Amino acid sequence: MPGSITNDEQSLIGFRKALLEWYDENGRDLPWRNHEGEAYRVIVSELMLVQTTVAAVIPYYHRFLERFPTVTDLAHADEADVLKLWEGLGYYRRARHLHALAKAVVANHGGQFPHDEADLLALPGVGRYIAGAVRSFAFDLPAPILEANTIRLLARLIGLMETVELGTSQKTLWAEAARRVDPDRPGPFNQAMMDLGATICTPRQPACLICPVNKFCKAHLGGLTETIPLKAAKSPLKPGEEVSVIVKRPTDGSILLLKRSVQGLWADFWELPTFWQAGADPAKRRDQGFEYKNLDDLIQLIEALMGLRIKPLEEVQAKPIRYGVTTHKMTLNVLGTELISENLIRPQGFLQAEFVAPSEITKRTMSTAQRKALKIPLKG
Ligand code: ADE
Repeated sequence: MPGSITNDEQSLIGFRKALLEWYDENGRDLPWRNHEGEAYRVIVSELMLVQTTVAAVIPYYHRFLERFPTVTDLAHADEADVLKLWEGLGYYRRARHLHALAKAVVANHGGQFPHDEADLLALPGVGRYIAGAVRSFAFDLPAPILEANTIRLLARLIGLMETVELGTSQKTLWAEAARRVDPDRPGPFNQAMMDLGATICTPRQPACLICPVNKFCKAHLGGLTETIPLKAAKSPLKPGEEVSVIVKRPTDGSILLLKRSVQGLWADFWELPTFWQAGADPAKRRDQGFEYKNLDDLIQLIEALMGLRIKPLEEVQAKPIRYGVTTHKMTLNVLGTELISENLIRPQGFLQAEFVAPSEITKRTMSTAQRKALKIPLKG
């Protein structure tokens, strides 16, 4: 009976209608949205999109699906090939999770993604957000999602006057996301929430005047859009400094690379021999004796650790590379050197040590910072 609809329900129906009408006209045309019924594609895109922009993800998404079109193809892939396709996207744990997840879907679910929330949450790398994305985008189930864009949007809609990181805020926001999902079009509803957050309800200077749901927004009505979401005090990033050494073999131009162990940061990645210099040491280089004090010490250390005699081509590069990893902001200096004589030994804690031809280097998986270090032109 229409008469029994409360004001709250009426308002909710109006909200969904305004949002979905806006989305149908203005939603972004993103590649994964042409395949909303396919759980595998939803998982690939959503794992890539965690902490990464849409523009950065699009080419990776296409390459990945070209190489591994189905979950079974991915399950049977080599981890090195999976990581290679992820190279440059960062947060490589997501790629390892995706690979493990594909194996689990094939081994435990006959290659078919489960619909049940608990079954999805049991898969590697799947949290509440990814489970909600798969259930709503792939299976059209009325499941909520909550990620950076929708957190900001919901916080403003409900006028949340607590920082969003608090456990109590998260609980409120999940409940609010669940209450609002449109039962008839849950997938488009959730995509619409993300698009509205990304394009209209932006962190700074949100475009409230053209927002389709501004009349439902407590922050807008109360003049609080610049205040909400409340900011939590951020702990500062810890600085650290390192030196990467390019050891070039003059006879064939090949360069020494080390393969990191299967454990810890950048597991299985290749890198230039890299030494801790000061401050934070997220890659735990000191534990392996890779510690830079000065140039003379470094030359002796390289001989002791790897059996190589080298001569420097120059002083440590004046213009270092800066990169972020976990909670650290790192400065990477690069030193160019040339091999004098070799009796190469694999340093402890590494899987391999090898002189690699320049044309082969691109085939090895490396971090973006290490790739940049290799591009630095050397004098001499
Ligand atoms: N960010 C995370 N998931 C997204 C999606 N499906 N569309 C756009 N942006 C996103």
